[in-house]
Amino acid sequence: MKSILTTVLFLLLVLSPGCVNNDTDNTGDDKMDWWRNARFGMFIHWGLYAVPAGEWEGTTNHAEWIRTTAQIPLETYNGFVDKFNPVQFDANEWVKMAKDAGMKYIVITSKHHDGFCLFDSEHTDFDIMSTPFKRDILKELSDACAEQDIKMCWYHSIMDWHHPDYLPRRKWETERSDEGADLDRYVEYMKKQLAELTGKYGKIGVLWFDGEWEGTWTHDRGVDLYNYVQGLQEDIIINNRVDKGRRGMEGLTKEGEYMGDFGTPEQEIPATGLPGVDWETCMTMNNHWGYNKYDDNWKSEKDLIRKLVDIASKGGNFLLNVGPKADGTFPQESIDRLAAIGEWMDIYGESIYGTSASPYSDLEWGRCTLKQQGKNTRLYLHVFDWPGDNRLIVPGFENKIKGAYLMDGMAKLETDHTGDNVIIDLPGSAPDEYCTVVILDVKGEV
Ligand code: GLC
Repeated sequence: MKSILTTVLFLLLVLSPGCVNNDTDNTGDDKMDWWRNARFGMFIHWGLYAVPAGEWEGTTNHAEWIRTTAQIPLETYNGFVDKFNPVQFDANEWVKMAKDAGMKYIVITSKHHDGFCLFDSEHTDFDIMSTPFKRDILKELSDACAEQDIKMCWYHSIMDWHHPDYLPRRKWETERSDEGADLDRYVEYMKKQLAELTGKYGKIGVLWFDGEWEGTWTHDRGVDLYNYVQGLQEDIIINNRVDKGRRGMEGLTKEGEYMGDFGTPEQEIPATGLPGVDWETCMTMNNHWGYNKYDDNWKSEKDLIRKLVDIASKGGNFLLNVGPKADGTFPQESIDRLAAIGEWMDIYGESIYGTSASPYSDLEWGRCTLKQQGKNTRLYLHVFDWPGDNRLIVPGFENKIKGAYLMDGMAKLETDHTGDNVIIDLPGSAPDEYCTVVILDVKGEV
């Protein structure tokens, strides 16, 4: 009896498409495996809003929200369609920049809140085929991703400021009547587009919904949309913004029965890891998601690398944004940062991919990730603050030490296991200006 009950409970846990996941050790045959191993992806916010590049009638703090933040009437905004001609767009180059940075997947805006589609859709003219460019951006990108072994993923906004059936209208949009608008019909439109997006571009890694916070979107609609998309491609991963369970910008899913395979903290990193919960922090390199030519508040290379490390040490993924320009190129500042991260990942990527969260919640000199190696454990010690006496203290240890090494070059380091602490002798200065990784191999599990 007990074993039947256990089996039923187990099946319930495994089959319920909730937010909590029990296969976080990367060993099971789980649709999340590739995503958990990947740890690092590129977000791309691109669309008509790249044309005004953040500026409207003398104000300069806009980006992908510009139609609403600058209150641009629909007909005026539609005029950007004739101006969007990214002749320098090269899908292979974009994908290569992501890959060289160490990223394993790309999430691009198939449609943002403005309703414009970067792909050739049969169900609207408000798409790339109406621009002078007339090339299906998503087709070119998905081909390049397939070639370079990067997972292609779509960001698709539920909220839509263009489609006549979407409700509600913006408050300031008093001239656009909502008479006759029918949200059910809008959902049908969205579903037909999602069928295109999962039918014409090969296997899709993630469907990343957004704009679910409006009052018209309901839990029932979220459940229905989740199931619909999973029916289109069964291994597709769907974020928690499909439903109503997201806790604000903190992004994790509230207690309760909500759909979504992972939480979506936005512009923030949770304070600690969350055992059994999948999450991905999405973040901009400067202040805006879409291109803003005035925004020069760029995060440093060091800051971005350390954010990636911090996130991995807490068991999360990092989705780092690029907002391309209207000519089809990435801002030079983004290119430079991607290259710097890539150089670091070339040496230290193994301390990020496929690692598990740190057993420590607080280390005064940096962060830790780990990997199980058979019966033993490899700890990756990410040293942010090089100790003044060149002695790295790893607290609270009972496992037998197998060896310690500088990850770059694997030079062996002396260790001293005194009491509960392991003390590792480091060279006189940090070999890496951003973050040096020290490997500590120990017997057994930590
Ligand atoms: C948001 C914004 C948006 C951006 C996104 C990224 O909620 O509305 O413009 O696409 O989050 O997480």
